[in-house]
Amino acid sequence: MNIETYEKAFLSLGGVLLVACLVALAYASIAMGIHLPGRAGEVDPLTMRAQAPFDNPGVRETSPGQYEAVVIGQLWAFVPAEIRVPAGAEVTFVATSNDVLHGLHVEGTRINMMLVPGQISRNTYTFKEPGEHLIICHEYCGVGHHTMYGKVIVE
Ligand code: CUA
Repeated sequence: MNIETYEKAFLSLGGVLLVACLVALAYASIAMGIHLPGRAGEVDPLTMRAQAPFDNPGVRETSPGQYEAVVIGQLWAFVPAEIRVPAGAEVTFVATSNDVLHGLHVEGTRINMMLVPGQISRNTYTFKEPGEHLIICHEYCGVGHHTMYGKVIVE
């Protein structure tokens, strides 16, 4: 084979990989429903404690098997610090920050969001197996950053 043949083969490989990546991306977003946690609304950080849903943080069942967990990140805790759901629960986290930038990562899941003052983050995950998942703040938020954690208990 001459050099042009190798070059063509190499270029085709690049094209095939590009198509394979696009197919994988389409499969992940359409068939598996995986999305980046996006902006899901805005809220005034000064009055959020008096506005739904952040006037009543906690977990509630919205329909059979589906739950909404309203979480506030603040210096230096998550409110509520403990979320209890039964195994199989599909939990939509609706979260924001009361003060500075925080992060919300539920260990062992793909729930990994930024909590930005004034913005609402939303993401959904199904907890199939019973167990405990640590919730950690993954954005440095001051001297108490390392004490900012909570947990999800799947029963
Ligand atoms: Cu909150 Cu780090």
